[in-house]
Amino acid sequence: MALQRYLLKRSHEAGEKLRPLLFRSFSSIAAPALHPFDYAPNAYNAPTLPSFDYSPKAYKGPLGDEILQKRKKYLGPSMFHFYQKPLNIVEGKMQYLFDENGRRYLDAFAGIVTVSCGHCHPEVVNAIVEQSKLLQHATTIYLHHAIADFAEALASKMPGNLKVVYFVNSGSEANDLAMLMARLYSGNLGMISLRNGYHGGSSGTLGLTALSTWKYSIPEGEIHHVMNPDPYRGVFGSDATSYAKDLQDHIDFGTSGKVAGFIAETIQGVGGAVELAPGYLKLVYDIVRKAGGVCIADEVQSGFGRTGSHYWGFETQGVLPDIVTMAKGIGNGLPLGAVVTTPEIAKVLAEKIQFNTFGGNPVCSAGGLAVLRVLDKEKRQAHCADVGLHLIERLRALQQKHDIIGNVRGRGLMVGVEFVTDKKEKTPAKAETTVLFEKLRELGVLIGKGGLHGNVFRIKPPMCFTKDDADFVVDAMDYAMSKL
Ligand SMILES: Cc1ncc(COP(=O)(O)O)c(C=O)c1O
Repeated sequence: MALQRYLLKRSHEAGEKLRPLLFRSFSSIAAPALHPFDYAPNAYNAPTLPSFDYSPKAYKGPLGDEILQKRKKYLGPSMFHFYQKPLNIVEGKMQYLFDENGRRYLDAFAGIVTVSCGHCHPEVVNAIVEQSKLLQHATTIYLHHAIADFAEALASKMPGNLKVVYFVNSGSEANDLAMLMARLYSGNLGMISLRNGYHGGSSGTLGLTALSTWKYSIPEGEIHHVMNPDPYRGVFGSDATSYAKDLQDHIDFGTSGKVAGFIAETIQGVGGAVELAPGYLKLVYDIVRKAGGVCIADEVQSGFGRTGSHYWGFETQGVLPDIVTMAKGIGNGLPLGAVVTTPEIAKVLAEKIQFNTFGGNPVCSAGGLAVLRVLDKEKRQAHCADVGLHLIERLRALQQKHDIIGNVRGRGLMVGVEFVTDKKEKTPAKAETTVLFEKLRELGVLIGKGGLHGNVFRIKPPMCFTKDDADFVVDAMDYAMSKL
């Protein structure tokens, strides 16, 4: 038996060594439905990727080591990468990614990054290409139908009087603009955001981002970070009233009773897929409005039907914000963001100059409009509800089996799995999470990692992720945890 295992291991290692050579030499040959390099190491009955009828194109570009050297030489040292040996990803197709050797990975994280409909969705790609062939311009100074069509379509997705759209190029820009609007409209300076929240990397949004202010102690105007209504780790559990009281105290004692606005992700993404205590937003929106402020929902990660139950994350809390910000999935990979607000708030900005060279450019607008169309046509919200339910059920069953899983949470395809070494103390299993993270990559799953302690798996795949994919993620986690 030992000899058999040894031989299997050696044959796998030999196969791994041959794989790059084989792929780079023969990848132009038509491949069968199941690509021979799809499979994760299977010598010890490791789970295998669901089949996928696609062969990546031959990659002839520079390899990872060379790219890494160039990055180190020419790019900022603050740039970080995932994995001890970083991946050189060269192609994407729907919910899958391919590395330089043609190996396929299930992308369980792209939704957090940028992709909603799936990598290189043909309809979105086509819209971008066709518009690029015709015109790309900073065209808000001239007329162009793409920006108007996209704004109309986006406004049709918004409830209430949220009907005025501004296009920008990223989530940080969207939140910067929202904060500016809040301050101009209210005439106040103080902003309130949640601890454990993330709102961007610009100098303005870093102040809102309590997660980063642990690292950046640069004052960014008047910003108050209130207690996070985290049902798992928060001191008040799911008691929304007590967390709301903390916010009220900040207003009463920290801002002399007046604020410009309050911003929160409706489900925290970078912070580890944290859903806010039920009822929290309703309570604090009331408090903030009484103090003269406006309420901003950051939907950069939670919007566009990802939660399954609702199109927007804020709807899960039954509230209507004054300003909504979005980015990432809105463009399926394009640099695109948006702010949607009411005509009343927009009026204040009209008294100033507001200009963004590429905000709403024809190519991004055409792509963004195609994204909205595809999400509707392919019924992705309902799909997220269905697949998300299955995923969460399977993860909860896994939690019964492995003590290291402290918490499974989320909605639709925005899911978090928190690892702890002690369930009662909720001690973050930081080192173990890192080991599991690397192990999953070996098995063919690219997942996200987050939370203040880096002990949460964030599962937020493109919305075309299937139940088979969900099963593969859970089986791979089960396998990896059993080897811990
Ligand atoms: C909730 C949220 N808001 C804003 C941002 C900032 O977006 P960007 O990186 O596009 O500036 C992010 C990025 O991770 C985010 O997760």
